Amino acid sequence: MDKKIQRLENKKAEALLGGGNERIEQQHKKGKLTARERIHLLIDEGTFEEIGILKVHRNHDFGMEKQRYYGDGVITGYGKINGRLVYIYAQDFTVFGGSLSETHAEKICRIMDLAMQNGAPVIGLNDSGGARIQEGVNSLGGYADIFYRNTMASGVIPQISAVMGPCAGGAVYSPAITDFILMVEKTSYMFVTGPNVVKTVTHEDVTSEELGGAITHASKSGVAHYACANGLDCIDKIKKLLSYIPQNCEEDAPVYHYNLQQDESRIKLNSIIPENPNQPYDIRDVIQEVADEDSFFEVHQLYAENIVVGFARIAGRSIGIVANQPAILAGVLDIEASKKAARFVRFCDCFNIPLLVFEDVPGFLPGTDQEWHGIIANGAKLLFAFCEATVPRITVITRKAYGGAYDVMNSKHIGADMNFAWPSAEIAVMGPKGAAEIIFKKEIEEAEDKEKKLQEKIDEYTNKFADPYRAAYRGFVDEIIIPAETRMKVIRALEMLQNKVAKLPKKKHGNIPL
Ligand code: HXC
Repeated sequence: MDKKIQRLENKKAEALLGGGNERIEQQHKKGKLTARERIHLLIDEGTFEEIGILKVHRNHDFGMEKQRYYGDGVITGYGKINGRLVYIYAQDFTVFGGSLSETHAEKICRIMDLAMQNGAPVIGLNDSGGARIQEGVNSLGGYADIFYRNTMASGVIPQISAVMGPCAGGAVYSPAITDFILMVEKTSYMFVTGPNVVKTVTHEDVTSEELGGAITHASKSGVAHYACANGLDCIDKIKKLLSYIPQNCEEDAPVYHYNLQQDESRIKLNSIIPENPNQPYDIRDVIQEVADEDSFFEVHQLYAENIVVGFARIAGRSIGIVANQPAILAGVLDIEASKKAARFVRFCDCFNIPLLVFEDVPGFLPGTDQEWHGIIANGAKLLFAFCEATVPRITVITRKAYGGAYDVMNSKHIGADMNFAWPSAEIAVMGPKGAAEIIFKKEIEEAEDKEKKLQEKIDEYTNKFADPYRAAYRGFVDEIIIPAETRMKVIRALEMLQNKVAKLPKKKHGNIPL
């Protein structure tokens, strides 16, 4: 028996070395951690159980039968993160550049199947040269098996992709289907076609980093939700993200202990809105005051900055926040902001995370650029996402709620449960100046002193509409509240809505304007 045990131990020791010490060293020289180091940092000590450590590829082409590595370039298994079960795969760049063979794909599919059956998140740590070139269509089929499972798992269990090295060609589409993508600055990139192909086809000179690096995808394309400074930062962010979300669509997010105070008022909120309604302020200052201390964890921070989305806790419970950002483009809704917020709303709704909306929006961004690129279809995404969301939904109108944007931003009419407004709220079809210029056009043109007349009409419109009272009289706003009371009001509303049951009409699935 001793010999047999020794044989097993030798094989496992060989497997732990992946592609060997030399390639591990090369990986470190590139500033990258190895797949095993990443798992070690991510998973609670002593909880990782590997599945398929001795699995090898079955390829006999191009002399591949002589090159077999245990595990075949991907480490798969399960373990705990902060005591909660997760399934994980980590591609090992030291084995054939982490490239995906049929076997490699089978290993990933196996843990995805287990994750679905057992209702726990899947985390993929990607670091791969793409399809295993020596395997041809077997490898392509392997990718498709993964894409199919990613799609089936969408909305059932959370799926998180960390791109910590190359991720090119069709390989990008597995992360793209998952809920969150984290990328590491300078060591990771994602693109469908690399710089060489780009040069040949479009004659553009571009580096991998410019074309598909972490900052590019976090700020320009919106493909990545987080650009991480390094591998460690990436792993910390995965852990943090998981702390706000449930294990699967049937469960609630973890609740953190919070001692509710007698007085939850936040006096600072009374002085955030500037006297001048056209002056910007940072909506994050409002979020910080309303959320539990230091609990706000922003998503997509560098992309479409005119809207802020992210997770927070309120009295210990997870919440998804969507907030217009008056500090950027006056908080206007445009194509990118609509897409960003819609995707976030849908994630929260999939996973039973209530939504809290802060609204200060002058409307949709005008212009040919927006119209030609489809602000109609893209704005409709956000509208559709809110309409369809059945989680508890609360809106706080801090200042402007103009035009179609009033309807879209979680208005009562599209299913919000509680709508609050601050006394500074202005709820109208448009801003007073624009309104006066249209409805009193003739009167202004005929006036001797046009400027004076215009101002008179602006004042008239302002007095009539630039406040929240008409909306409150109609019940479109449930209560006008003093800003300092907001946190308490939200805590109580969330508690009141805790057992909300809302069902959508029977259907196969809706047809969101993609
Ligand atoms: C097999 C691969 C490989 C691949 C890398 N390797 N990519 N083996 N299939 N796709 C191997 C290399 O031969 C090398 O082996 C080792 O991995 C490390 O690669 P290097 O090139 O030395 O590393 P580096 O200089 O860091 O460059 C990394 C790289 C480059 C940029 C990823 O290897 C590369 O361009 N690979 C090919 C990428 C590619 O075209 N993939 C197919 C994409 S299409 P040794 O033995 O020397 O260590 C695709 C379709 C998917 O993925 C479709 C799904 C729908």
